[in-house]
Amino acid sequence: MRIELVQEVEAKSALLVLIDGSGTTPKYNAPTGENAQIDSAIEHTPFLLKNGEAFYTVGSKGQALLVCGIKKNGLSDTESIRRSLGKGLKLARKHELKEVTICLPHKEDPDEIAMIQLAAETCNLSLYEYKKYLSDKGNPSYLDRISIVCSSNSKDLQEALNRGIVLSDCTNITRDLVNEPSIDLYPETLAQKVQELGKSFGFDVQVFDEKQCLEMNMHAFLAVGKASTRAPRLIVMRWIGGSNMEPIGLVGKGVTYDTGGLSLKPTASMLRMKSDMTGSAVVIGTMCALARLKSKKNVVGVVAACENSVAGNAFMPGDILQSKNGKTIEIRNTDAEGRLTLADAICHAIREEHANKIIDIATLTGAVKVALGDQVAGAVTTDDNLYKSLSEASTKADEQFWQLPINQDYRDLNNSEIADISNLGRDGLAGTISAACFVEAFTEGLPWLHLDIAGVAYNHNNHDYIPKGGSGRVVRSLYHMVEALD
Ligand code: BES
Ligand code: ZN
Ligand code: ZN
Repeated sequence: MRIELVQEVEAKSALLVLIDGSGTTPKYNAPTGENAQIDSAIEHTPFLLKNGEAFYTVGSKGQALLVCGIKKNGLSDTESIRRSLGKGLKLARKHELKEVTICLPHKEDPDEIAMIQLAAETCNLSLYEYKKYLSDKGNPSYLDRISIVCSSNSKDLQEALNRGIVLSDCTNITRDLVNEPSIDLYPETLAQKVQELGKSFGFDVQVFDEKQCLEMNMHAFLAVGKASTRAPRLIVMRWIGGSNMEPIGLVGKGVTYDTGGLSLKPTASMLRMKSDMTGSAVVIGTMCALARLKSKKNVVGVVAACENSVAGNAFMPGDILQSKNGKTIEIRNTDAEGRLTLADAICHAIREEHANKIIDIATLTGAVKVALGDQVAGAVTTDDNLYKSLSEASTKADEQFWQLPINQDYRDLNNSEIADISNLGRDGLAGTISAACFVEAFTEGLPWLHLDIAGVAYNHNNHDYIPKGGSGRVVRSLYHMVEALD
């Protein structure tokens, strides 16, 4: 699929128009000559087009029209624009249109740059499909070209288009990784894929096998992967954007399947545990975006990839493990495995890669779904500046986060009498926060932000521009955040 900017509409292309649903004076960015046709289609609509509604009709010259409603005066509600546009594009596919030209709400708006980026993002995000394992992959020629009408061929607008395409492409890389079943995506194959991505986009990748991880004393990480026939891999990605600064550390949970280990999960909860590597997929997608957009930042991504499986040699509740940074950990539940892998991965990012701050991203607790649902990710930090950066970045991406509290009472939930720390908090008490406190114990006092994405990682239903399956959420926020950090 090609996405490009145009100032003229080709006669054979279908038109997609976003209109303010007040029904009176729709404003849209269409080239003269097309307006009358669109106006007449809207006028003949026997209902008031509401926010989020879209319909398909044929204009007077036989041209296909997709009319999508947005909120009255709702141009600042960019999430609603993304949703309407996503609906319209899916309608275009349903009607098997080959080419579509998007007429954005308005031409004169000073923020045309942001609107073009948003439109480009939405094209790739809403039309994403995961068909790798389907025998019938459908007709690939539908919607092979999307044009976006803009006011000039300025460099700024071209760059906005490119940014939108790259950010959504990289989000789709994340989605592909999450959607791939564990029979094919396991630590070794994940590492191979990252190596390929690094080669394609120009970031450096180093992979460590089990023996090398053992030499680096990563006993907490290795314990989790011990019972699997698929050996763990530590994957390190580096993007050096030019400055002499120490890198920002992005650490993603990379459990390629989580059975729960000996503290086995019930059948229903295990079903979607192929997605327990979403944190790593988010880091990988973000590294691709940083490299493709030639970020000026220095960033290191660390993923301790393993499979939490069951066998006679599995790690056991009651075990005491020594992590890479020397702290001992009492295992009280082998299903609280993500924090063990993060502990060693974070230590690696700090001690071997000299990260000066840590952002960890993980499908860490079911409790975050109970607290915040599946649209809002949980954030825990002791650094107000990091949270502020996240908050600003998430506005650009139209993604949602909510900060949860952290204090000594929560940290004490992880106290153990026989080891330095326990991997389990107290039943029913703030599971997301106690998990975050465990992770914090391995950050060595550096600025740190923790994102629990267990709720938002996976979509159970199709959403206007986020299809069922791996959602790809957080990649765009994380990219914007890294770009804004010093
Ligand atoms: N991978 C799960 C968390 C999860 C739950 C991700 C639902 C996606 C959807 C994690 O490893 C886990 O099992 N956490 C336990 C922790 C508990 C044992 C303290 C949980 O949330 O039940
Ligand atoms: Zn688990
Ligand atoms: Zn897990």
